[in-house]
Amino acid sequence: MLWLTALILWTSVSHSCGSDLQFPSWFKFGAATAAFQVEGAWNVSDKGESNWDRLTHRYPEKIADGSNGNDACNSYYLWERDIEIAAELGLQFYRFSISWPRLLPTGFANNISEDGKNYYNNLIDGLLEMGIQPVISIHHYDMPQMFQDLGGWTNPKIADWYAEYARVVYSLYGDRVKYWITINEPTLTCDWYYGQAILTPEREYYVGPYLCNKNLLLGHAKAYHIYDQEFRNKYNGKVSIANHLMWLMPYSNSTEDQELTEATMQFLNGRYTQPVFSKEGGWPAVVEQAVAKVSKEQGYSESRLPPFTQEEIELIRGTYDYLALNHYTSRLVRKRRPFEDVVQSLFSYVADLDAVLEMDPSWPFGYSELMSIYPRGLREIMLWVKQQYGDVEILITENGYSTGGSSLEDDARISFVRDHLEQVILSIEEGVNVTGYIYWALMDNFEWTSGYNSKFGLYEVDFSVPERTRTPRKSAEYYAQVIKKRSL
Ligand SMILES: *[C@@H]1O[C@H](CO)[C@@H](O)[C@H](O)[C@H]1NC(C)=O
Ligand SMILES: *[C@@H]1O[C@H](CO)[C@@H](O)[C@H](O)[C@H]1NC(C)=O
Ligand SMILES: *[C@@H]1O[C@H](CO)[C@@H](O)[C@H](O)[C@H]1NC(C)=O
Ligand SMILES: *[C@@H]1O[C@H](CO)[C@@H](O)[C@H](O)[C@H]1NC(C)=O
Repeated sequence: MLWLTALILWTSVSHSCGSDLQFPSWFKFGAATAAFQVEGAWNVSDKGESNWDRLTHRYPEKIADGSNGNDACNSYYLWERDIEIAAELGLQFYRFSISWPRLLPTGFANNISEDGKNYYNNLIDGLLEMGIQPVISIHHYDMPQMFQDLGGWTNPKIADWYAEYARVVYSLYGDRVKYWITINEPTLTCDWYYGQAILTPEREYYVGPYLCNKNLLLGHAKAYHIYDQEFRNKYNGKVSIANHLMWLMPYSNSTEDQELTEATMQFLNGRYTQPVFSKEGGWPAVVEQAVAKVSKEQGYSESRLPPFTQEEIELIRGTYDYLALNHYTSRLVRKRRPFEDVVQSLFSYVADLDAVLEMDPSWPFGYSELMSIYPRGLREIMLWVKQQYGDVEILITENGYSTGGSSLEDDARISFVRDHLEQVILSIEEGVNVTGYIYWALMDNFEWTSGYNSKFGLYEVDFSVPERTRTPRKSAEYYAQVIKKRSL
């Protein structure tokens, strides 16, 4: 350990002398998108209908600007330009996702779309030719509508349907893809889309998110084991799940707020992380107890949080080769005040703990008011991961800043990236095993319920023309410089 201490002393001294903040030679940079958000071409060839096609077409009022992904960035046609801008930035990673209904029009592995298969083959091969490694999310929110009709992630059969789809993806692309993400942001997939009445017609946040939580972890685990047993020897890639982890701090120094904060960390972060990454597996005890207690008070005959069998705990435990971390925002946690009126929301109120999540008024935010900015939260959450689960390799797979309107002058985004990357360097010096940073997003795109209003892109996209012209913002030039110099 002595050499490590010496190294830390040396590097901290070198900062105070004003030299550049330097990234280690092995550290990699990337940018990300996801299929539904950029591809468009929603009904071409034999592509099946996705749950997000249906949602945006039938309930446009759920989308801020009433828009949809029919054309999005037209990346289905403009993938060569996407590779070109990734290369302009000097990226080492491009993270994107595969559209399940584009690849498997029936949802099942009995019919692989030729056009779907070729689209991703072209994209992967084109990236590799430019020396850019693909990082692929197998499932990023969109699934065949047929499965959504059957309950989506709340139907226990979905774990097998998903795993079968994952096997097809590995078998088609595993020879060239070394970083896999099974499922993007289970917290949003379950707690947000099933809990906020977005994907489900009636408001139901008591049972749906927990069923989704369990089935989704089983689906992830099955997909991991398929890779492990059928592909790892040949391809030697790495598989993870991309967890959206928020950093939480107590609102006050009272013991009550401190304990509540720890419980909320387990509720929002641990519920999707502990079953996979901890030594013991299973639900965090504090969550299990809280949901059982509240369920009983509400007159349910059993806890709304479905238990795992011992066999399921073993199936899920240890199903990772690294941790894919998405991080945007932090919160302060306190108990709900008597008679305080609150609405259940992933970002502001946890009903089963009666915990209110607040933003510190001193934290700035971009266009998205949910994403208040506290760069140190990124470092804190990585330290928390290390402390809870040990020295797992962390790849930051999302972190980004939103603007509204049209502007290429995005100094606030530059500060955001700079401040977060500084925290990454400090984390490395503190012994956190973080090996890369993938910015969200490569370009403006369909930001789910925000539609096209919220713009996270390093490249601005002109959605008013069919060419969907991609133009670098000031932040793109900044990020390219960081990647080139490997320092801040
Ligand atoms: C595909 O959807 C568009 C709307 O985005 C519609 O105009 C077009 O007719 C559809 N094409 C087919 C083949 O259904
Ligand atoms: C698979 O897709 C093709 C083309 O759409 C179609 O002709 C065929 O009937 C499908 N097969 C199955 C098993 O669904
Ligand atoms: C909690 O205590 C620490 C150390 O005494 C202090 O720096 C901090 O401001 C306190 N936080 C709050 C929210 O009161
Ligand atoms: C970081 O993770 C990688 C990949 O799992 C591992 O090989 C390496 O030993 C880890 N490094 C540290 C310092 O724990």
